[in-house]
This record gives sequence, C-alpha cells and structure tokens, in this order.
Amino acid sequence: MSTTQQEKPHTNSWWKSPYDEWLAAQDVPVVSGYYIEDARTLELGWWTLRGCEGAVLNLVGHQGVTEAHVLRTPPGGEIPPFRMAVEEVVYVVEGQGLTTVWAEGRPKINFEWQKHSLFRIPANHYYQLSNARGDRPALTLHVSYLPMAMGIQPREAFFFNNEFVDTTELYSDDGNPYGAEAYAVRELVDRGGEKHYTNRWYANFFPDLTVWDRLTPYGGPNRRALGAGITFPNSAIRTGMMVLPPQRYRSAHRHGPGVTIVGVSPGNGFAVMYPEGGEKILCPWTEASVFVPPNNWFHQHVNPGATENRQLRVFPPKALMGYDGGLNREIPFIEEDPWVREQFEAALARNGVPSLMPREIYEDPNFVWDDPELSGEG
Ligand SMILES: [Fe+2]
Repeated sequence: MSTTQQEKPHTNSWWKSPYDEWLAAQDVPVVSGYYIEDARTLELGWWTLRGCEGAVLNLVGHQGVTEAHVLRTPPGGEIPPFRMAVEEVVYVVEGQGLTTVWAEGRPKINFEWQKHSLFRIPANHYYQLSNARGDRPALTLHVSYLPMAMGIQPREAFFFNNEFVDTTELYSDDGNPYGAEAYAVRELVDRGGEKHYTNRWYANFFPDLTVWDRLTPYGGPNRRALGAGITFPNSAIRTGMMVLPPQRYRSAHRHGPGVTIVGVSPGNGFAVMYPEGGEKILCPWTEASVFVPPNNWFHQHVNPGATENRQLRVFPPKALMGYDGGLNREIPFIEEDPWVREQFEAALARNGVPSLMPREIYEDPNFVWDDPELSGEG
C-alpha cells in the first residue's frame, strides 16, 4: 500500500460528521450546551439559507441524530418558501400566523396557527410561514432528523435541491389535510412487562397543546405521568406530550439520544440529567425551555410547582431510543441520590407548597404507589 500523498477524493473531513460540516458553513448562530432556558429570548442572527433570522440548537444530546432550530418570522412579514428532503415537526413558540404548503406544480394549502400549535411539513414540500400580526414577531421551533440523514447521504444537493415528492401525502379527496380534527385511537402499548393503554392522536395539525385534556396515565409505578401520544400520518417522527402533575416528580430513567423536549406550559420546574456515576446537571425548565438528555444519561422531570407542567417531546428514530436494546433502566426512588429530593423540596419551599410524593416511596422497597389521579389501566 502506498503512503505517498495523493489528491483527496472528496472534501469532507473524515473525522467530522457531514451535518457538522454543513452546519459550520452556515451563517446562522449555533447554540451548544445541554439546554436552553427560553427559546423566546434566544439570540438570533441572519440565516441566508432560510432568508430570515434564526438559531440552530446543536445541543450535546442531539448527538448527530436530531436537530432543532428556531426561526423568526418578522411582524407583518413572511419568510421565503423553503423545502428539504427530510420532514420537519414545527412547534409555535410565540405568535400567530399562516403556513402555506405545497408540492411543486400542485395547489397551495393554507392553515392558520397560533402560539402552542404543532404541525408537520412533509419532505420536499415547499412551505412558507407568514406572520398574521403586525406588532410582534412569530417564533417557531423546528425539529428534524437532518443530522442522521446526512450521516448516510452527505450530498447537500440531495437535501436542498431534490425533485422527489410523494404527492399522496397531502393531496387526496379528503379535503385540507391540515383542517381535519385530530382523532384518538386507543392502543395497548407493550414494552416487555410494562403494559399500558394510551390514546394516540392522529393529525397533521394540533392547534393548541395547552388545552388538550383527554390524557391517559402511563409509565411504571415510579414514573407515572399523564400523556398524549401524537402521531402525524405518514411520518417517521414520533412525538408525544408529557403532563406532570403538581408537586411531584418522576424517577430517573435513561435511553438513547436525540429526544428534543420543549416546555409547553409556564412554571419553574427542572430536569436533572447525569451520566451513570457522573456529575448532575440541573436544567431549569419553564415555557419554551428546550433540553435534550444525552445518550444513556439518566434524567428525571421535576415539578415543584402548584400547577401541572406540560412538555412536548420529539423522539429520535425508534431504533435509537434503546427500547429494544436492554438499555432502558430506571432508578427507583429508594435508590435515588438524596440530592435530587433535596433540590425538589427546596424548590417546593420556595413555591410555598408541600410535596405530594408519598414518604414511603423513599423508605419501603415494597411500597406500591397507588395514586388515584394516575391509576389508569397500567
Ligand atoms: Fe426520557
């Protein structure tokens, strides 16, 4: 084998991911770290590709699998049409406006959104966001699998200049695909021992995640919460909402990378994240906070407030969640580092409310938490 210097076969650096190289060439601000406290106050900058101001979140936990970015649609204005070869899930952080979405040469489809709306843009469909308000900008948070997709297909033109469109996704005889009301399907979820029923909701557009009240309990005995499964027909992206009742928290668990978690309701909760045996990171959590637990880091959701707390979760491809790889594990409260409970109780004291966690859960290994609010059919 010759070791003489030869002309490089291509320009990609072998030690960098194609997504990282692509992102480094963009002029948009990139935010790193473990979390952002408030997407509404993020420092934005011009992004030539999108023709608007924005910021890309390339958080530690995204880990080359998923990405998130914030775009600003100016007051009374719009941002240029855009399309890419991977679908996007869009959550409205602030504002009110209109999306126009269409496939090349096909009719334009419109729908209106408001703060806390959630919708999906299918792959290679053009879309344009317009601000319905003249007095304030609109902020949208977009999540996609672009980093992972670029990892197996590094050619930029494939993603931003790709003619393939599946027109069956939005064009059918059923009317506006964004106008149909969400419908629920009651499904039995079986994750090898942990079985529960859930209402899984189907739609392309969810107008307001804050008023959603038909929730189902889910999770193991130490990890009970209320939830709503969110499914976009034809989508590879799985999403869900978690609603944590007041003055309690969930035990630590872990799984694969790339779950983008967005605070939907106000409040002063927090998440704790840590690698096994490692230092704990406390992520303050309120409306429009975003955090992404890194691969296999334990994490738990803590709500020391007097009102419920909602989070939207956009999951990575299922194979990467580790559900089937034997990696999933939780730490029962009785084995928990007392530091977590101390943080919880200090936050409760600041809020002037008592804990609703049963004392025995920290002391009795056989204790079964029979919580009527979360009894469900698990
Ligand atoms: Fe999790």
